[in-house]
Formats: sequence, C-alpha cells, structure tokens
Amino acid sequence: MARIFQIAQLGHPVLRRVAEPVAEIDASIHELVDDLFATSHEANGAGIAAPQIHVSRRVFILSIRPSPRYPNAPSLEPTAVINPEILWASEECEKDWDGCLSIPGIRGRVPRPTTIRVRYQGLDGEYVEREFSGFAARVFLHENDHLEGKTWLDHVEDNRDIVTEKEYLRQLDGGQ
Ligand code: NI
Repeated sequence: MARIFQIAQLGHPVLRRVAEPVAEIDASIHELVDDLFATSHEANGAGIAAPQIHVSRRVFILSIRPSPRYPNAPSLEPTAVINPEILWASEECEKDWDGCLSIPGIRGRVPRPTTIRVRYQGLDGEYVEREFSGFAARVFLHENDHLEGKTWLDHVEDNRDIVTEKEYLRQLDGGQ
C-alpha cells in the first residue's frame, strides 16, 4: 500500500542535501516510488523528489497532467526516474512558472532550457535515454534540482518574479 507522506518544507535541511545514488533497485525503491506517486497525487503535484519526503536518494517521479495546481499542464505517462543525468540542455531558455510542494503559497517565473536530453534508470533497472521539452523539461529539471539540494528559488533572477499562489492563478485566468 502506497503511503502519503508529510512533505518537507523550505528550511528543512534535507532539501539542501545532495542525495545519494541508488545502487540497487530493490523492493524498497519500488515502495519509495509508489509513495512518491501517492504523495504527489494527493497534493496535486506535477512531480516530487525523494528528498521532499525526507529520503535523500536520487529518485523522483513525474506526474504531469492537468490539475488544480497546473490547470494548463499537458499529459505525460507517469514516470519513475532513478539516478538521472542531464546529458544536454538547449541554450534556448524560457522563463515560465515554477512551483514546489515544499514551498507552498508562492510561484515564480524561472528561466530554464526549453529542451533537454536525459538518461535515467526506470524501475526495471534499464537505462532510458530520452528528450523532454516545454513543461515536461521544466518539471524534470525542477525535480533534478531537488537531488542537488536546490529549489526554484535559487534560479530566480528578480524578486519581482515571485508571486503568491492566488495571484498566479489570477494571472493564469487571464487577469493582468
Ligand atoms: Ni519542488
């Protein structure tokens, strides 16, 4: 049974630690991935990384679909990512919204590469090499940052790019 965990909040030291690689994808990693999907789903996340549930390992999940927190998100198959590497990132960047379950109540406009090529292991241990672009690339890089002890706040160029959640939703709604 997957469990829903408390999510570590900004300021907790686990969010600033560099996470440990996974040497063996055993039952405990399968459980961890189930717990990550359940916890992200409960919180309407687009993804969540293991350090956010206080497990400092190089694992995250992508759970990208339209939700109350990301009404305009595309849909991607649920993806477990273990020991990821960013092989290539486009020079072209786009400044768009980031948000984080560990930093509730605010959103920020953060520049990130529009396209990335990555390698990671799936739950079967096989290496996958693939490309992501747009929102999926943004979420992948955001979750990967968590494994390096970083958050989206570390990429903000100007304090004016940070807004409250309520204001973010108002702007998405077409408000000026
Ligand atoms: Ni996050």
